[in-house]
Amino acid sequence: MMSHPLSRRRLLRATAGAGLGLAVSADLLAADAAHAAADPQAAQNAAPPSERRIRLGFIGVRNQGTNNLRAFFRQPAAQVVAVCDVDRDVLAKAKALVEKETGGGCAAYTDYRKLLESRDVDAVVITTPDHWHALQTIHACEAGKDVYCEKPLTLTIAEGRAMVDAARRHKRIVQTGSQQRSDDRFRQACEIVRSGRSARSRPFGSAFPALT
Ligand SMILES: NC(=O)c1ccc[n+]([C@@H]2O[C@H](COP(=O)([O-])OP(=O)(O)OC[C@H]3O[C@@H](n4cnc5c(N)ncnc54)[C@H](O)[C@@H]3O)[C@@H](O)[C@H]2O)c1
Repeated sequence: MMSHPLSRRRLLRATAGAGLGLAVSADLLAADAAHAAADPQAAQNAAPPSERRIRLGFIGVRNQGTNNLRAFFRQPAAQVVAVCDVDRDVLAKAKALVEKETGGGCAAYTDYRKLLESRDVDAVVITTPDHWHALQTIHACEAGKDVYCEKPLTLTIAEGRAMVDAARRHKRIVQTGSQQRSDDRFRQACEIVRSGRSARSRPFGSAFPALT
């Protein structure tokens, strides 16, 4: 079904004729209310941004992508509406998971550029291999989507600069998750060492992802 959300522009256009304004806008409001009741996506589109759930598209939905999907299922402010993966088996599993967990539909794409074209997606979660993060974040910003991108955000300083520039140019919110910098336990350990409370030093082990 086509959606016809009541946009500010549509309302203004319809009410531009002097004298007709109130009657026309009342008709439009009634028509849009009926349309919204029949089509939840239309209701979502018509709601002001502050009242809308954030509609998420996931790019790369295997290991960490599935972990992130499960985490966002628990967020009432978010709604997963689309998934993308170049691997069709991974894609089919993720789509089925979303539909089972949310009870709603989920669009599926093998080309992330098509997902970015969708007007039903407000923001994207990028969980592809590291070398894709910069380009997909920049393309998402250009498409008007906000971004949550897995760590490492990028592989080079030049890519990072281009990502920051794209986020600022297109006024997007871009966040990256690096839990070993933000997790409570790591923060506490860091503060203990910095405060000098840890008088004794001991050998310790640490793990970093391989730079391949
Ligand atoms: N924050 C964390 O704790 C954490 C943990 C694990 C992984 N990660 C990060 O998540 C990212 C993915 O890691 P993973 O373990 O999930 O890898 P993975 O190989 O399991 O999943 C990556 C998926 O991306 C898909 N893909 C590749 N190129 C694509 C493209 N151009 N468009 C769409 N899909 C594409 C692959 O087919 C695959 O299904 C990495 O950057 C990794 O560093 C973060």
